[in-house]
Amino acid sequence: MSDSSFYLTTPIYYVNSVPHLGTAYTTVAADAIARYRRMTGHDVHFLTGLDEHGQKVAQAAEEAGVSPQEWVDSIAPAFTEAWGMLGVTNDDFIRTTEERHKRGVQAFWTELFDRGYLYQGHYEGWYCVPCETYFSDDQVNEHECPSCGRDVTYIKEDNWFFKLSDFGDRLLELYETRAAEGRPFIRPETRANEVISFVKGGLRDLSISRTTFSWGVPLPFSEGHVTYVWIDALLNYITAIGYGDPAKAAEFEHRWPAQYHFVGKDIIRFHCVIWPAMLMAAGLEVPECVYAHGFLLTKGEKMSKSKGNAQTPASLVERFGVDAYRYYFLRDVRFGEDGSISMESMVQRYNGDLANDWGNLCSRLFNMTEKYFGGSVPALPHGLATDADEKMRAIASALPQRYEDAMADLDYGTALEAAWDLIKYVNGYIENAAPWNLAKSEETLPRLKAVIFNALEAVRIAALYCAPVMPLTSAEVWRRLGLGDIHEVTDIAAAAAWGQLPVGNPVTKGEPLFPRIYEEE
Ligand code: MSP
Repeated sequence: MSDSSFYLTTPIYYVNSVPHLGTAYTTVAADAIARYRRMTGHDVHFLTGLDEHGQKVAQAAEEAGVSPQEWVDSIAPAFTEAWGMLGVTNDDFIRTTEERHKRGVQAFWTELFDRGYLYQGHYEGWYCVPCETYFSDDQVNEHECPSCGRDVTYIKEDNWFFKLSDFGDRLLELYETRAAEGRPFIRPETRANEVISFVKGGLRDLSISRTTFSWGVPLPFSEGHVTYVWIDALLNYITAIGYGDPAKAAEFEHRWPAQYHFVGKDIIRFHCVIWPAMLMAAGLEVPECVYAHGFLLTKGEKMSKSKGNAQTPASLVERFGVDAYRYYFLRDVRFGEDGSISMESMVQRYNGDLANDWGNLCSRLFNMTEKYFGGSVPALPHGLATDADEKMRAIASALPQRYEDAMADLDYGTALEAAWDLIKYVNGYIENAAPWNLAKSEETLPRLKAVIFNALEAVRIAALYCAPVMPLTSAEVWRRLGLGDIHEVTDIAAAAAWGQLPVGNPVTKGEPLFPRIYEEE
């Protein structure tokens, strides 16, 4: 990985359903980091995509009376459209049915075969098709999947196995050394214990192929075997950046290892045990960090298609707008922990933080600039700084570091709080300074200029730090301040240094950024 390369990924989603709030959550969270890191000058590569193979897809296609490829092709657009609607700026979108992926998976198998990590054996045990996961007798109770509760099937197959059991010690060493170095492989660190005790319990070799159906990537050295879908899926993280393609060797070298794999806590073992072991076996570096977030809960239950409580993002976006949608999930749910979501709390956040604090601040201030200064940024008179002015500058100058520290921890709530400290301060500042009184006399005109200039400047800076989460409204605030495209900022801390708002810049009022929402609507 070159110094500035910042590669981050989401899980690739199953195509058995259209995106819902749960899958959108991971994607939007990753997008906010991708956007922020572009603003800190990193060479970001943000990957998401679709997990299109496996028995589940083959069965769904059969039920629909179409080929598996037709089936996945019919669902894929729902994902690209949803991500487009949510302002997701992924740099690549991988589908595991693409040629580049198949080629990479086969190259990977050839490598592991040559290195002696694969052998042929017999598998007998339980399999959960909806979870695409193997389970042993002691894990399954009454034919129920321990993960999703649905029926498991008993399978007996001659499969290829990966010598996962060889990697227990190396995995434990990885978790330990990384934690000791202060760059934990598994985050949040509270999730590491569960993984460590699983590995300490002893790893079994993993069946990596299936023979009873054909919807998958064929093993290059064994006819009739297709890759087990989870292994196929994990490899997307390297095939998308050119693994297995000699023409893309330089790109792969540049991008890998990933900075972050964002995953839900339910798929942590695949990412923190199997995946690093596969990479070690192939002689590749392991990612910097796997970050496992919690679940979105509605009425105390995980939102999921199988529970029938999955909601699509579109209805919420229609009501609240894209930026408020993004803001709500990142502000109200602590990343890494489960979080309850509800319409009431969303309306509350929207009206409180967005309509009242932020939207209202912009409207009032831009209005006053128009009213008192004909819509142009007034010059800041010299030598008149009050304590309140100094304090505002101090809050604004502390913002970049506070925000950076929080985002390095993927603590979106604290990052947004830091921006809100400035926004709230400016609101109080205007209230106390009462520009409408200052405007009454010539004598107080210099103070009026100072107040409006300072408040506009603070709003310019606040917009910068809202941009990763709320890109549309931040860009709009910059436009209304007569500034350039906020998305072109590549050094956010330098752009946030106090005093850069050009005097005389045209300021326009515009429509409310977040019109108030009434509960009964
Ligand atoms: N296809 C696999 C991932 C392969 S990655 C190499 C998969 N797909 S999934 O579509 O079922 O889920 C993808 C992610 O969405 C998981 O990380 C899962 O935790 C997340 N979410 C699904 N429902 C969720 C919530 N209700 N809340 C938060 N995230 C949840 O697993």
